[in-house]
Amino acid sequence: MNDNLHTLRCFGCGARSSGAESRPDFRCAACGDLFEVEYAGWSQRKGHDRPNPGALKWLWRERRSSSESLDLSGVWRFRELLPILDNFGNAVTLREGNTPLYQLKRVSKALGMDQLFAKHQGMNPTGSFKDTGMTAALSVARERGFEWVACASTGNTSAAMAAYAARAGMRSLVLIPEGKIAWGKLAQAMDYGAVTCQLKTDFDGCVRVLTQTVKQSPIYLLNSVNPYRLEGQKTPAFEIAEAFDWSVPDHLIVPGGNLANSSALGKGFRELCELGLVSRLPRISVIQAEGANPLARSFAKSNGTVFEPVEAHTRATAIRIGNPASWRKAARVIQDTGGWCLDVNEREIAVAKAEIGAEGLGCEPASAVTLAGLKKLVAQGKVAATDSVVLVLTGHTLKDAEYTIGFHSGTLLNDQELSGHEGEVEALRRNAVPVDASAAAVLDVVKASVR
Ligand code: F0G
Repeated sequence: MNDNLHTLRCFGCGARSSGAESRPDFRCAACGDLFEVEYAGWSQRKGHDRPNPGALKWLWRERRSSSESLDLSGVWRFRELLPILDNFGNAVTLREGNTPLYQLKRVSKALGMDQLFAKHQGMNPTGSFKDTGMTAALSVARERGFEWVACASTGNTSAAMAAYAARAGMRSLVLIPEGKIAWGKLAQAMDYGAVTCQLKTDFDGCVRVLTQTVKQSPIYLLNSVNPYRLEGQKTPAFEIAEAFDWSVPDHLIVPGGNLANSSALGKGFRELCELGLVSRLPRISVIQAEGANPLARSFAKSNGTVFEPVEAHTRATAIRIGNPASWRKAARVIQDTGGWCLDVNEREIAVAKAEIGAEGLGCEPASAVTLAGLKKLVAQGKVAATDSVVLVLTGHTLKDAEYTIGFHSGTLLNDQELSGHEGEVEALRRNAVPVDASAAAVLDVVKASVR
């Protein structure tokens, strides 16, 4: 069986290559830009050969009640739209995807909206959206016979890669910026058996070193410059469309770091539209942290056409990225869908994270930029109360417990960040209280909490 129908197409100059010919750094030999996976057959097929939207919708839904390993994956359940392997039997899966779409009831009420949802990608096997991309790209690495895989990471990619490599019996190499990733993520890389190097540089520096490393050794690069990562990461778009009964929400809001996820979700919706599974695209907006906002700056100055990297600083360490690899792809998605790119400050991120926690969901700081961004878009009149909106929550709250404890114990934000907003922050804080070991003392605390 040959399930492979793809070619790679350069996003910059349009040059095509077969997947097997790609260079170790996945850059185009002619222009240095990134590749995108293309399925030329889809546009050429006519009549019976074109995928039948009705049949696909039925098949994908049926697979939800199957016990076959591939069908149990929320990525490979949609395998007709990611024919990237010679044999789907080579897929390495941990039952990723099929993540919940929750209604955000309290936040909706506060914003006067009634159709606000969170697609919680933190509910994946290793606790982040990276699993959906990793199952795709690591399966390609396995099929092509690689023994070693590697990534530079702010933490989540490395956790996902280490887990999938371990499942496949492969070795993994992780480069992370020293002291700049959340403990939960570092612990995962160690637990899943990766060779982990902490480099005295930032994420962008780790990417530079890894690019050199893979050119000197047969190690398969699993950063999101690898176009197969995006094939897995586009599948939440299919899940969202399915959950909306094959219509789409008005607006999707995604955090922006290295900018692959927004690119992938945009590709997913575009393909659904091209194949006639949905009839329109949602607006896709990308939100960055104020201290790591090169794309937001680019949109403010030149509508996403001219780009300058920044030196990145934010406590949302997952998106502490100053020179995002996929900025051109993400800019195209925002422009083509009529979305926006904004930035939000450290207090706005912390408050939004606490509000998502108070919904009983929780997420990591980088994910909370979506809610902080939504509030700005509503205030600017860009999102209407009647719009249906999906926030993509990218990571689980337990990834960065230190941040959460810092917020609730009052040590996270400094006076300058808090200034003028002390009441808003205080109302959300739920610190742990030291109490005498007596029922009376505990009940006093309960009474005091009913404000
Ligand atoms: N949210 C979380 C929790 C992330 O870990 C990342 C990226 C993003 C959002 C941004 O996604 O890069 O596709 O724009 N984390 C990377 C990592 C870079 O190494 O784990 P993006």
